[in-house]
Amino acid sequence: MTMSRSNSGANRRLDLPDCFRRLSPYIEDSLDDWLPEEGDITRDLARSMRYSVFSGGKRVRPVLTLLASEVISGDFRPALPAACAVEFIHSYSLIHDDLPCMDDDDLRRGKPTNHRVFGEAMAVLAGDALQSLAFEVVSDDRAGYSARQVRDMLAGLARACGARGMVGGQARDIDGRSEDLDSLSRLHSMKTGALFRASLDLGAVTAGAVCEQRSLFRQYADGFGLAFQITDDILDVVGDPEKTGRYAGSDEEGDRRTYPALVGLDASRELASRAVESGMQALRGLHGETRELREILEFVLRREG
Ligand code: IPE
Ligand code: IPE
Ligand code: MG
Ligand code: MG
Ligand code: MG
Repeated sequence: MTMSRSNSGANRRLDLPDCFRRLSPYIEDSLDDWLPEEGDITRDLARSMRYSVFSGGKRVRPVLTLLASEVISGDFRPALPAACAVEFIHSYSLIHDDLPCMDDDDLRRGKPTNHRVFGEAMAVLAGDALQSLAFEVVSDDRAGYSARQVRDMLAGLARACGARGMVGGQARDIDGRSEDLDSLSRLHSMKTGALFRASLDLGAVTAGAVCEQRSLFRQYADGFGLAFQITDDILDVVGDPEKTGRYAGSDEEGDRRTYPALVGLDASRELASRAVESGMQALRGLHGETRELREILEFVLRREG
């Protein structure tokens, strides 16, 4: 176990649901196991990758992966490699999102952004390497997945990351076109929703979920992802920097596509509630113990960071 194993640095009191306390230690250990050590590869690259993975992220996506697995099979452990893969993709997406050529942000989780510490070139490379690592992890023999599971997971992750998913959404976000409500919800569904869909689906696949269960998780993830990005947009306007770990007003300054900019804060909150309700409806169709999935979805509306 290395020093970077603890997910410290943010010092934010975020009042996360209890399942985060239950599952995070497993996630932290597993992330540490899969990440390269400073001695294994170019030192600064390893440090840069570890800096962003262990800088106080909430671990929402890997927790969702583990819970999806647990709801289906009663066991979250087989989903740990998949959970790490989605967190590696998430970390990569944030490192690149913060770059001067994108959102140009200096602070994340209360700490300097990756490129402010390691320089832009190393930040780009750390993001690239984290993305590759995600694919390596799910296909590694040590992850223990069957050939069929690996195929489904690789396909799901690739779709979530690519031009029809997160990267496509990021491209729309920066292309400067004005959006109406439908196209903004599509943008959010790509840039943020896609990775939430993959997070749930990978967990479901590791547990051998059937089609109907996977499609209910998809509906849950759609509601979750939309509500999550709307609240992210709201927090950029009204959030407490002590809790968000970011400077306020960065979206407006960067002229980014957000719900508050398009419809105002009250309508944004209303649309986030509706998205949460749609996610809740999906949970009612899933048999099994879904209490913790419900608690995280409720948390999305009241989150402060
Ligand atoms: C931030 O995601 C980026 C968005 C998609 C809104 P999180 O709020 O999950 O980021 P961390 O990992 O907890 O900092
Ligand atoms: C980015 O959305 C979501 C990603 C795909 C990285 P934002 O640009 O709103 O995320 P934050 O506010 O910087 O975390
Ligand atoms: Mg952005
Ligand atoms: Mg950003
Ligand atoms: Mg934001």
